[in-house]
Amino acid sequence: MAEEVLRLEGIRKSYNVGTPVESEVLHGIDLVLQVGEFCALMGPSGCGKTTLLNVMGLLDRPSAGKLFIKGAETSGLGDRGLTALRGHSIGFVFQYHHLLPAFTAVENVMMPMLVDRGRPDAAMRRRANELLESMALTPWRDNLAINMSGGQQQRVAVARALAMDPSLLLADEPTGNLDTKAAQGVFDMMREVNRRHGTTVLVVTHNHALAAQCGRIVELVDGRIVSDRHLPAAAQAAVEHTEETSQRR
Ligand SMILES: Nc1ncnc2c1ncn2[C@@H]1O[C@H](COP(=O)(O)OP(=O)(O)O)[C@@H](O)[C@H]1O
Ligand SMILES: [Mg+2]
Repeated sequence: MAEEVLRLEGIRKSYNVGTPVESEVLHGIDLVLQVGEFCALMGPSGCGKTTLLNVMGLLDRPSAGKLFIKGAETSGLGDRGLTALRGHSIGFVFQYHHLLPAFTAVENVMMPMLVDRGRPDAAMRRRANELLESMALTPWRDNLAINMSGGQQQRVAVARALAMDPSLLLADEPTGNLDTKAAQGVFDMMREVNRRHGTTVLVVTHNHALAAQCGRIVELVDGRIVSDRHLPAAAQAAVEHTEETSQRR
C-alpha cells in the first residue's frame, strides 16, 4: 500500500473569526497525497489555493478539520512543534522567490540549514552546492541573487526549499512571473526532484500545459474541491518520452 505524506479531513479555514467580517474560505477539504505524487492544484484567483497551501504547510492553522503529516495528526502540536515539523518535512516555493537579494545563491540555499543548525559548516556548503548543481546553477552559485534572472532565482528557491530534504514540496504559482521557457525550466527541475528522490510535489499553477505534465490535477473552486483527476499513464509516458529525446540531443 502506498504511503501517505499528507491527509486532510474536513479542513475549514475562516478569516477574521469573531468579527463582523468573518468569512469562511475553505469549506471542508478532504485530500490525500501519497508519497511520490506530482500533483497540480488549479482554480480561479481568490478560490483559496494559497490559504490551502498555508494550512497544508503548517504556516496557518485550520479553523476545523484534521491534518496528518506522514500519518501523524498535527492539531495537538504547539507552535514550536509545528515549526520543527515544518522545517524537516515541508519545503516551500513562493510566487515571489523571497530570496535574500544581497546574499549569493549558495548562501541562500544554505539559509534553512543555518537556521536549523546555528552555524555554517562545510557539509552545509557541500549540500547547497549539490542542490545548485542539480538545478543546473553551478556557474552562478556565487552570484548575488539580485543579479540573477527570474528563472534562475526560482531555481535557487527550489534548491533552498529542498535544503532540509523535505518529504513534501509545496509550490505556490512558482512560474507565475516567468516566460514560457523559464517556467518549463523550473517545472522540469521539480519533476526531476520528484522522479529521482520521490519527493511529493504539489504545485499551484494556472498553466494548463504545465498541469498536463503532472500525474494528478486537483481543482478548487470557491473553497471546495470540484475535481480530482489522475492523468492517464499514456499522457505521462508522452511527456517522459519527450524529455528523454531532448536529453539525448
Ligand atoms: N489574511 C487574510 N485575511 C482575510 N481574508 C483573506 C486573507 N487571506 C486571504 N483572504 C481571502 O481568502 C480568499 C482566498 O484567498 P487565497 O487563498 O489567497 O486565494 P488564491 O490563492 O486561490 O488566489 C480571498 O477572498 C482572500 O481575499
Ligand atoms: Mg494565491
